[in-house]
Amino acid sequence: MYGVKSPLPDADRKVVGEALQGALVDLIDLSLVAKQLHWNVVGPRFRSVHLQLDEVVALARLHADTVAERAAAIGVSPDGRAGTVSRSSGIATAPEGAVTDSATVGALVAALGAVIVRMRERIAATGDPDPVSQDILIGLTADLEKYSWMAQAENTA
Ligand SMILES: [Fe+2]
Repeated sequence: MYGVKSPLPDADRKVVGEALQGALVDLIDLSLVAKQLHWNVVGPRFRSVHLQLDEVVALARLHADTVAERAAAIGVSPDGRAGTVSRSSGIATAPEGAVTDSATVGALVAALGAVIVRMRERIAATGDPDPVSQDILIGLTADLEKYSWMAQAENTA
């Protein structure tokens, strides 16, 4: 039994809680995929890509904490367990082993793109029931879209 009194009515809390839980899982998995790529990138652009990936890890972890704590604040218990992430992430698993710098950036673009599509659906779903949660989702999606832009620019000849 969760002890926090929600500022939202039950129906709204359910909708917003699902959006925040989905965002949490995607952000945790984004941090894991970016770390995997950070460790396994090879090639002439190693250093810039390696360092950029840690920026994505930090961003994903920061926002994961924010959405988890927003869920708690509306009376929804956040679930960041490994099994839950594995079952419900919207991101494809990172490639196994060493990955060239271009393929690494491609994998990052794909991961960010998958998360952004889902975040925008969550933004649409939360605006009416809870603009406070929506504001958090909008802010983090802007950050993800900034990194998506930079990653795409890196792989454009
Ligand atoms: Fe590192």
